[in-house]
Amino acid sequence: MNQTPPIRRPAVELDSEGVRRAYRRWAPFYDELFGSVTRPARRKAVRHINASQGRVLEVGVGTGIALPMYAPHLEVVGIDLSSDMLEQARRRVAKQKLGNVTALLEMDAQALAFADASFDTVVAMHVVTVAPEPELVMAELERVCRPGGEVILVNHFSAETGPRAAIEQAMAPFADRLGWRPEFPLETVLGRPGLDLIDRKALPPAGLFTMLRFCRRDETVNDVVAPGTR
Ligand SMILES: C[S@@+](CC[C@H](N)C(=O)[O-])C[C@H]1O[C@@H](n2cnc3c(N)ncnc32)[C@H](O)[C@@H]1O
Repeated sequence: MNQTPPIRRPAVELDSEGVRRAYRRWAPFYDELFGSVTRPARRKAVRHINASQGRVLEVGVGTGIALPMYAPHLEVVGIDLSSDMLEQARRRVAKQKLGNVTALLEMDAQALAFADASFDTVVAMHVVTVAPEPELVMAELERVCRPGGEVILVNHFSAETGPRAAIEQAMAPFADRLGWRPEFPLETVLGRPGLDLIDRKALPPAGLFTMLRFCRRDETVNDVVAPGTR
């Protein structure tokens, strides 16, 4: 029997309304507060994507801070739960005349309104720690990516030990007010049957962020194999 490992759930629950509320507050200041510390990691991920072709879906596109980094040969679609964050992204696209960004849509990453295999690359940067149901997000990223395409995550995952782990544990109860989970084990995003982890890189500053690259399998392996068929 081929068993998918159980997904470890993060300790604190978030809900969609809480996420919208949190990002309504953050939207006007997001770029100034979080932009520079997260920029190098974002740049590395987009540089990798720019070597590919076709359609890119950026899930949790936020204020569209990464949008100017995509090469013009890529068609980019962005989605986000927060209309306030999207408003900032739309202004950016208009101001910088980003012609390759073909849509910015208000949509829940846990229930994407795209057909299966719609995109060549699907990327979510600093999103899985924020979404109410990260397992559903992972299932949707897998579904809308074409076989052979890549699903890319850039995120902060929690430390197991040491001072950083202590700080993260202390901040964990405030996840709903922060709008993200300080404590979020990497295992939460592993174990999708149709996604093979092909690369894991620590990213600047000081390895605080991690890039995970998954290849979308050609065929989803069934979790349960009938007795005698192997
Ligand atoms: C920390 S921000 C990251 C924004 C951007 N990706 C970046 O790199 O700066 C998290 C974003 O994820 C969005 N988000 C959270 N849960 C979501 C969901 N279920 N569906 C779509 N977007 C979601 C939030 O609204 C917010 O804009």
